[in-house]
Amino acid sequence: MSAQKIGVIGGGLMGHGIAYLLAAAGHAVGVFEPEAKIRAILPKRLRAIADLFGDDVALLENVSVHDQLRPAVGDARFVFEAAPEKLPLKQRIFAELESAVAPDTILASNSSAIPSTEIGRHLKHRERVVGTHFWNPPHLVPLVEVIESEKTSGEVLRATMELLRDAGKTPVHVRRDVPGFVGNRLQHALKREAIALVAAGVCDAETIDIVVREGPGARMAVLGPMEQSDLVGLDLTFDIAEVLYADLDRTAGPHDFLRQKVGDGKLGMKTGEGFRRWTPETAGAVRERLSRFLVQQAKARRKSRV
Ligand SMILES: NC(=O)c1ccc[n+]([C@@H]2O[C@H](COP(=O)([O-])OP(=O)(O)OC[C@H]3O[C@@H](n4cnc5c(N)ncnc54)[C@H](O)[C@@H]3O)[C@@H](O)[C@H]2O)c1
Repeated sequence: MSAQKIGVIGGGLMGHGIAYLLAAAGHAVGVFEPEAKIRAILPKRLRAIADLFGDDVALLENVSVHDQLRPAVGDARFVFEAAPEKLPLKQRIFAELESAVAPDTILASNSSAIPSTEIGRHLKHRERVVGTHFWNPPHLVPLVEVIESEKTSGEVLRATMELLRDAGKTPVHVRRDVPGFVGNRLQHALKREAIALVAAGVCDAETIDIVVREGPGARMAVLGPMEQSDLVGLDLTFDIAEVLYADLDRTAGPHDFLRQKVGDGKLGMKTGEGFRRWTPETAGAVRERLSRFLVQQAKARRKSRV
């Protein structure tokens, strides 16, 4: 896709990565970030990504940072919203966007869970509203779920998928605006069972992590569950389902084990204990392992595209 003018609303964790990947694809990106201290660290954060990839820092000239919405989105063809996860706030932002951009500017929300159908409900031109769910960090994880709202037009979907594909992402079309879209539903189905197994004393939390990393997870990056089922045969998949499914956890709502942890302030690495116990060193080692892996994968993907 030729170079476009693109707006990004919110220059936080997700917004700065989205701005980077679009700027690296050659687009002119205007970021609106209301917090002065977040604006102040944006150039450093963008530069850190350029250093990570060994990119020419000149590409950062494609990004302008603004303390007001209008100058950031001016004549934008696309706007990606990455503001906090609050429906009234996102609705206010989209209402302001509608008055600031052309009627056919595509308005995409990076909401993790709020349907873009709700975010765009009160707009005049709802056909240009779409969900684009990036995964953190957006400049390293390839997937973007492109979620069709009740009103999204086919042309808006096509153009959004094309922009993201050309920027090196792997966009997928999610045909219905269901909570959690596809990726988070799958991820949380796995977490629900993991929590129930630990709560029932079947194994400890560390064992769950080893089983997933060293077992199914070892092949998941190259083999999805549907092709894995086809690989082993649906007859086997059926036989296992018949024995197993009735025994899987079906707790409606968060499991009491999780509720209790949160109630006790055991929130994970940030408090030193969650499902497992953490020191700053062991938590740092996990972050480092994840970052090294994602960077390696992202670099390999970039190389294979050249
Ligand atoms: N963090 C993740 O792993 C992740 C993954 C996928 C999607 N998301 C979604 O992306 C969105 C942003 O999340 P984040 O993790 O980047 O949060 P964040 O808090 O790091 O960033 C949000 C930014 O928006 C700014 N902001 C506040 N009010 C604003 C306004 N009125 N207009 C514009 N900007 C405003 C904040 O100052 C902040 O810098 C949320 O909807 C979140 O659910 C997050």
